[in-house]
Amino acid sequence: MEGADTAAFVRSNSVHGEQLHAWLKSRQLLNPLVEPIRSSKGEVAFPLVEEADPAEVVASLRNDVPFNVDVRTAPAVHRPPVDPHVRLNRIVSKWLSANGLEMTVDEVVPTKWEKLGNLVLLPVDWGGDGVAETLQAHRNAETLWRAMAEALNAEALGVQAPIANDTFRSSQVRMLLGSPHVRFVDHGITFAFDASKVMFSSGNITERRRIGALDMSGETVVDAYAGVGYYAFPMLIHSGAARVHACEINPASLEGLRAGAEANGLTDRLVVHEGDNASSLAVLQGQADRCHLGLLPSSEAAWEACLLALKPTGGTLHIHMNVEEERIEAWSKATVARFRSLVEHHGLSFSVNSVHLERVKWFAPRVRHVVLDLNFRP
Ligand SMILES: C[S@@+](CC[C@H](N)C(=O)[O-])C[C@H]1O[C@@H](n2cnc3c(N)ncnc32)[C@H](O)[C@@H]1O
Repeated sequence: MEGADTAAFVRSNSVHGEQLHAWLKSRQLLNPLVEPIRSSKGEVAFPLVEEADPAEVVASLRNDVPFNVDVRTAPAVHRPPVDPHVRLNRIVSKWLSANGLEMTVDEVVPTKWEKLGNLVLLPVDWGGDGVAETLQAHRNAETLWRAMAEALNAEALGVQAPIANDTFRSSQVRMLLGSPHVRFVDHGITFAFDASKVMFSSGNITERRRIGALDMSGETVVDAYAGVGYYAFPMLIHSGAARVHACEINPASLEGLRAGAEANGLTDRLVVHEGDNASSLAVLQGQADRCHLGLLPSSEAAWEACLLALKPTGGTLHIHMNVEEERIEAWSKATVARFRSLVEHHGLSFSVNSVHLERVKWFAPRVRHVVLDLNFRP
């Protein structure tokens, strides 16, 4: 609740409230930023915009409506602004002046953020030039983090960091407030994981939707880099896959993968293969209708094993890769050629065709995250 000053209200019996509200609103006299007042005596009072002349409003109301109205001045309870940027600006500016810090609001308020359930993640570049360090060292820092989280309807706050360049593609989120354990529903799918240990790329949302919209009815799918189920769950829930073999090496991701499988009721259709997919893919030879290879910057380490995981009747591979914009065309051709030579090398009788190339997002200036869909038919 924000500060209370006063406002002019037009009051009537609440049985006429709807009509009074419509009359005021249609004439742009209703103040949407102040709460109406309802009394225990069955009356309702609507706040007027500041520019309105209350006496004039009541006079013209009395001409127009067949019920009693009057005007009064009362304390105004302000509604929090709908725009979260405005809410953040207000609380940060209040906190800075209360704590006597010589910083501008713009240095503290981010222009964008990511929300994973109850956790808000500020962007990697937030708090540059020592701003983050100064704020974190402040004795009242926690009240700022709490107010910022509340302004964004969250309970926890953290700062994104670049994804680690390790096998796990670990998250390196730095927590400022609350717990990094998140649980949220995205497109009908529950995800549950520790955001300080596991990455979740909201930028891949279009690709998750695209994969979830493909028809995989009855298919057996191998997800070579399953993470917390970013693609495995959409394939099981939306695409109709009968079974997904999910390979994953990171213990924190495995925990999230299992928690998600439980939450989505998928434990009987998701087979988790713990450890390096170099071993798990070897035992899946000849079993898949489709393999998903979602590792950046490159999924090449699993290309051969995923080809061999396809059934003799063939199937599809979804190959993720970071590629420089001007090389995308050449890379696609080279990838098809590489698979043709692998097919020949293993004496398989597949024809190899590129069926789709998806440009998912910009990964870096001039570098795109792309997904190439390849089809293999005997
Ligand atoms: C980048 S994440 C998936 C992220 C996801 N694509 C997204 O949209 O947010 C890739 C996952 O592959 C796992 N991984 C990497 N190398 C692996 C390997 N050799 N075997 C099994 N899993 C592996 C990592 O632990 C990580 O969870």
